Amino acid sequence: MATRRSNLALVGLPGVGKSSLGRRLATTLNVPLLDLDRSIIASTGVPKDSVDEIFKREGEEGFRIRERSAVAALDEVAPPAGNVAAELGIGRIISLGGGTLVDPRNRWTLSQRARILWLDAPDAVIAGRLRTARVVRPLMSKGNPEASLRTLRTERSRFYAIGTRLESKKSPGTLSQPAIDLLRATPRTTGRMLLSAALPSGHWELGVGIAAESLVRALKVRNASRVVLVSEPNAERAIGGSIAAALKRAKINVIPLTLESGESAKQLTVIDEAARGLAAAGVERGDLLVAVGGGALSDTAGLLAALYLRGIDWVAVPTTLAAQLDASLGGKTGVDLPEGKNLVGAFHQPLAVIADLDALRTLPTREILAATGEAVKIALLGEDRLFTLLEEVAPRLVAGDPELHADGTYAEIVERAGWWKCNVVAADEREAGLRMSLNLGHTLGHALEQAANYKGILHGEAVGYGLRAALTIGVELGVTPAPRAARALALLDALGLGAAPRRESPAALVEATTHDKKVAGGKIRWVLPTAKSFVIRDDVPASLVLRAATQMLAGNTRGGGTR
Ligand SMILES: NC(=O)c1ccc[n+]([C@@H]2O[C@H](COP(=O)([O-])OP(=O)(O)OC[C@H]3O[C@@H](n4cnc5c(N)ncnc54)[C@H](O)[C@@H]3O)[C@@H](O)[C@H]2O)c1
Repeated sequence: MATRRSNLALVGLPGVGKSSLGRRLATTLNVPLLDLDRSIIASTGVPKDSVDEIFKREGEEGFRIRERSAVAALDEVAPPAGNVAAELGIGRIISLGGGTLVDPRNRWTLSQRARILWLDAPDAVIAGRLRTARVVRPLMSKGNPEASLRTLRTERSRFYAIGTRLESKKSPGTLSQPAIDLLRATPRTTGRMLLSAALPSGHWELGVGIAAESLVRALKVRNASRVVLVSEPNAERAIGGSIAAALKRAKINVIPLTLESGESAKQLTVIDEAARGLAAAGVERGDLLVAVGGGALSDTAGLLAALYLRGIDWVAVPTTLAAQLDASLGGKTGVDLPEGKNLVGAFHQPLAVIADLDALRTLPTREILAATGEAVKIALLGEDRLFTLLEEVAPRLVAGDPELHADGTYAEIVERAGWWKCNVVAADEREAGLRMSLNLGHTLGHALEQAANYKGILHGEAVGYGLRAALTIGVELGVTPAPRAARALALLDALGLGAAPRRESPAALVEATTHDKKVAGGKIRWVLPTAKSFVIRDDVPASLVLRAATQMLAGNTRGGGTR
């Protein structure tokens, strides 16, 4: 299907006036108006059906399945010739349901076939309209519409913000011309935005083909005229060219800094040399650092940004799956010591994280699979939809199916795992409690990486082994139900994670865990899966850790799996 984006989808909070503006726009532009909820209702074939009735009969899940098919069936509609619609390239107006954009696959499809217009107004204005509306909206029935609107705004702004925002206190029926003027003035981007979340830990943007445009926009907001562009050869090959060209077009001066690829960049000597390079180039506190690369690159470059001149601002452009769904989010930066991984570092949140899924197209399948180790971790912590999704697509991930780039699967994996992490970080940035849960699988995982001297094993692969050990310990202590452990092990097997036997000594691994960052008062705090979530325990007997490490190093001894 051609991606002309000839639909104009109106989104916004309930009561903001999407239907009213939609009708006016359709009349002014002389194009059809499609009400998505009505077409879903028509699909049931039940006379006098309604959204409420479908919810009652089929549950929300049933409605969402119908909604997803309705979105998937949306086609391109040619604009009528010779009027404003043709100039704007708009052939149809679509009024979406309140929750349509919440589903990552709906956003994926709509980003291909529609321009999105976010109609917005202050909460007090919308609440005023809800109070005087003829129809009683569910939001009103909760008694305090302003409070409900605030909650919904927090939950949904990141989805609405993928569109062009039209904010006005005026009656929506009068906004047809302002909407047309805004659309005319807004450049039609080649990239497709899927998520745009303004978070305390930095602005997180996720999309396809967005890196160069989004980066330039973020830098312009800061009036940046010069940046330190830190990257490494593989990331440069994947995405660096388009970024450098866009910075040049935007007349932003670049001080390039190329580090070694992979874990070997994560050393204090690298920081030392790089910082001296910045000093020699006269980099000032007002200059920004941009890190383009995987987790190793952003850990190192982020630490450089945290330390140079006691901290300069930085932007992360993650180019690996591991960095997009995990390492670039949350502001932890760091390098390794011979005594252990990530032992020197700082919390230093980037201003923005710009994740461009196009970068993943050049990533080797082994790197993709390793990154799923962190995704399985998030699934086990309680992201059930991610668990199911990974189970569904595991064979295709292992086969390196290129369709996964085209059908929105990677986008959904990154969004689900990344959003989970962002919420944890928002609740506990400095790892005083909840954030510790993100270390699930990392205690023996880090020990294994260290024992292997960070060679021949990728971080996510080590996490795969560590997750197996955490499951063994959890089952033996009676905190992980056996069926939950069996399901997780089956997923790890299907992804080939932690499946091959290893030669490291279990005793050496147990010794290495004592240098772990999660040790408090000499006791190791183990994150262990429960039926739906996790617990943290500091009373795991050394003998059990040794048994779990021994079993973990034996790999997948149960047969099955892919390797
Ligand atoms: N800070 C955090 O919160 C956090 C969280 C998880 C992991 N990490 C760290 O992240 C690192 C692992 O991340 P990673 O897997 O991204 O490692 P990485 O940065 O070493 O990248 C993996 C490999 O992919 C190559 N590469 C990068 N982008 C590419 C592209 N688009 N196409 C082809 N090849 C590309 C790199 O050159 C490298 O060889 C570890 O050091 C880990 O400790 C940090």
